[in-house]
This record gives sequence, structure tokens and C-alpha cells, in this order.
Amino acid sequence: MDRQEAIEFLLEHYEQPRHRGELADPDVTMPGGNPGCGDVVTIYLKVDAANDAIQDLAFVGEGCTISQAAASILLEQMQGQALAAIEALDFNWMIDELGREVVQSRPRCATLALGTLKAAIKKYRNDQIRAELGENAPT
Ligand code: FES
Ligand code: FES
Repeated sequence: MDRQEAIEFLLEHYEQPRHRGELADPDVTMPGGNPGCGDVVTIYLKVDAANDAIQDLAFVGEGCTISQAAASILLEQMQGQALAAIEALDFNWMIDELGREVVQSRPRCATLALGTLKAAIKKYRNDQIRAELGENAPT
């Protein structure tokens, strides 16, 4: 992807985001944000427990083009993926996926969605452990 293709890719996802909206009955709702600018992405996750994989996912958010396009690009690719595969992804992967040349100067914008998705999976794991131990989730 050259620089121009990367810009068009981002703009296209920003203007027509995939997986945007709320899920009716999510296993996890995880808000994420960049304190520096106030931009937000909230991720909703439904897990296929038998396969330890994503059953469905969605986001709502408000913020700069890169942060919102990244959420759309990430969630489109992660539909149906194993949770372990997502846990193994790093921020460098995300930056390459979006077009390093364009987003490398804006790493926090580029990685807000991936960081939030990883936090959502972490919460799902913790909730599972609590349920197995018979504990209530903290309020
Ligand atoms: Fe805030 Fe991009 S400027 S996430
Ligand atoms: Fe503010 Fe990217 S988080 S510029």
C-alpha cells in the first residue's frame, strides 16, 4: 500500500465504517479513550465460548479520522477470529495494517481500537475466571 492508497483506505473506512453500532446483548462493553485528545472508541464483544473466538463485535466512537477508521478496519478483520490470535497482535501490526507511512506519527490514534479490543478480551477472561470461582463481578 503506498501513501495515497493508505490515505484513501482510511478515508473510505472513516466515511463508511464497518461494524459501527452497538450490540444488543454483548458479553463485554469496553470503553477506550485517549486522554490527550478526548477521542473515544467503545467496543462491544460477543464471544463464541465453545471455540474461544469472536462471535460478533461492534464499536461506537468519536474522534479523528485515523482512530475511527482504525476501529472499522480492525473490527472487520477480527470478526470470527480466535481470541488467542487477537491477544497475540501487537501495535506494530496495527500500524502496518493502516499504512505505516501515514500513521506512524500518530501511534496513539492508530492503536486506540486495538488497545480497547485487547482490554475487552482481558475483561472477558477475568469475568470467566470469576464465574468459575463463583464470585460476582465488581460493580
Ligand atoms: Fe485523538 Fe486521534 S487525535 S485519537
Ligand atoms: Fe491525540 Fe493522537 S491521541 S494526537
